[in-house]
Amino acid sequence: MKALILAGGSGTRLYPVTVVINKHFLPIYNKPMIYYPLSLVMLLGIRDVLFVVNPEDLDSFRRLLGDGASLGMNIGYRVQNSPRGLADGLRLAEEFAGDDHICMMLGDNIFFGHELVNIMKEAKQDIEENGGAYVFGYYVNDPGRFGIVEFDSDGKVVSLEEKPEEPKSNYAITGMYFFDSNAIEIAKNIEPSWRGEFEITSVNEEYLKMGSLRVKLLGRGFAWFDTGTHHSFLEASSFIETIENKTGLMIGCIEEIAYRNGWIDKKALLLAAERLDKTDYGVYLRKVAEGEIF
Ligand code: G1P
Repeated sequence: MKALILAGGSGTRLYPVTVVINKHFLPIYNKPMIYYPLSLVMLLGIRDVLFVVNPEDLDSFRRLLGDGASLGMNIGYRVQNSPRGLADGLRLAEEFAGDDHICMMLGDNIFFGHELVNIMKEAKQDIEENGGAYVFGYYVNDPGRFGIVEFDSDGKVVSLEEKPEEPKSNYAITGMYFFDSNAIEIAKNIEPSWRGEFEITSVNEEYLKMGSLRVKLLGRGFAWFDTGTHHSFLEASSFIETIENKTGLMIGCIEEIAYRNGWIDKKALLLAAERLDKTDYGVYLRKVAEGEIF
């Protein structure tokens, strides 16, 4: 399985903050937003990652993450010339994905939960064994902002709808998707929505029609933030700060994960720490390298 992280888009909902800077570089507490989805695919053991980015942000992404070598990964980029929707981002991954299955993450989604990685591993394995699509639902108070899933009384998925005016449920589809290799062909054949975008919800609807969409609810014990508004942005930062300061462990620390995965050695980790100088982040990396943090 390969991973696709969508980090384009216009970011208008965060204006004026994002007029001159792409939201994925903005800090969620102490690290760029994009580290969080990247860290999750790393925790899944996926080393091949493609970022879909805006043309004006390509150089900045390259400066931040390079080709992935410093993390022991293969990171590539594909430019999306205009924000034409998430399914358009999926189409851009055609060459990269080949016949592989895909874990697709939205660059502005932040997840946290004790069992999260195990649940993601189950989804990955399910797709590898059975194909289809596997997504996650999360209860929200503002369903009109999201793609929404409706269930019948037996818990079976009945319908999906993108940003409904009259939501049929409070369960949002989160920005983490596991697809079999047919997803790109499906994305190439859908029609744009009323807002002129190729919606990922339309791709999921096709899987629903074929009877191969699984929706797992993330319930008690999971936090999910779509950092698309000023409020949710701040909320996510406060959440990360609280958990990190209480536990003394970092969330979304890509160098630590690369080291614990065995993708980089102690020397490389210390080099990364040095580059970050005397920040808390650098000090933390040094402690991980010296075995002071487990
Ligand atoms: C996108 C998807 C939506 C999903 C949401 C999760 O919306 O279109 O289905 O629920 O991400 O963050 P966007 O935030 O791009 O408007």
